[in-house]
Amino acid sequence: MVRLSLAAFIALAASLATAVVPNSPRFDLSKPSYDLFRHKTLHDDTVQQSFAFDNTNRRLFVAQRRNGASPESGDLCITQLDFSGKQLGYMHLSGFGHGVSFGAQADGSATYLWTEVDANSKGYGKRLARFKFGSGTTLSSTSGKDKLQKFTPVPDATEHTCSIDPVHNRLVVRYNLSGKDKGKYISVYSLTDAIKGNFSSPLANFKQPLPKTQGENFQGYTAYGRYLYLLWGDSYDASGRKVNSELASVDLNTGKVVQGPLITKAGSTLEFREPEGLAVYKTADGQVRLFLGFASGKAGDRRSNLFYKNVTVA
Ligand SMILES: *[C@@H]1O[C@H](CO)[C@@H](O)[C@H](O)[C@H]1NC(C)=O
Ligand SMILES: *[C@@H]1O[C@H](CO)[C@@H](O)[C@H](O)[C@H]1NC(C)=O
Ligand SMILES: *[C@@H]1O[C@H](CO)[C@@H](O)[C@H](O)[C@H]1NC(C)=O
Repeated sequence: MVRLSLAAFIALAASLATAVVPNSPRFDLSKPSYDLFRHKTLHDDTVQQSFAFDNTNRRLFVAQRRNGASPESGDLCITQLDFSGKQLGYMHLSGFGHGVSFGAQADGSATYLWTEVDANSKGYGKRLARFKFGSGTTLSSTSGKDKLQKFTPVPDATEHTCSIDPVHNRLVVRYNLSGKDKGKYISVYSLTDAIKGNFSSPLANFKQPLPKTQGENFQGYTAYGRYLYLLWGDSYDASGRKVNSELASVDLNTGKVVQGPLITKAGSTLEFREPEGLAVYKTADGQVRLFLGFASGKAGDRRSNLFYKNVTVA
């Protein structure tokens, strides 16, 4: 195998990324959001971090830090909910990561989750994992290959997270580089290649844009077709912080922002209201939705809230 230097890898990936993602509709972020549900409890009590849909089996999963776990432990809880927000099951993960984003993928009637794994000293996952969701079970990051596949899409990255475009069957990866090329990058792969551990031909690979935002925290990302969606913002706090949640779309073929950052007021009346996660879902009727998640409620009794946008432009 030829081992490329980091600079050569980025140059090669950048050349491969030239206009290879086919065109698709784009969500209009200026249009209103609708409620899926508000104020739903998860299995554990902490803030939700992100969520994912198994679009084939029509299942919803929400990630949060496990009760009592330190941020550095990487211990997560994944709750399965129905689309009215009722709990259907949960799974505990030990030593995985922070949970800023993850994906779900059908394999027959089973759901496989794609998450970060091998939490580093700050609690962020160094690699990606793929494993079968098993309600009521606990999976450790040290489990064997029969239970847990691990991947390193970008060998030099110190951190990997992912999301899935369930309509176009793509794995969207956000990774962190240090040194000369330091920063957060986005790369996109066919899920069929990714399952085989083949990350040699990214459909896109670029440095994530860092537009000026009103909030401090990056809170989630996903993609639908040609466009990537990014979410930022902070929880309300005692100082009376105002709505600062913002969304932007980015063209995967240019790496440039197309719309936004635009303020979203979805769930603006929620208590606490921390933006937490983005995901795409296509309904049985064929309506494609960009979902936005928010944590709400009091410490020790945080709640899950999901909203969606569904107006696209050609
Ligand atoms: C990301 O890389 C930066 C250096 O660019 C480093 O300081 C930071 O700790 C890394 N973060 C993670 C979570 O690996
Ligand atoms: C990896 O995926 C690319 C793109 O789909 C394909 O062209 C290539 O043959 C694959 N490599 C292997 C070893 O399967
Ligand atoms: C978006 O969803 C709302 C609420 O479910 C619905 O009334 C509206 O018709 C949908 N719009 C589109 C373009 O699908």
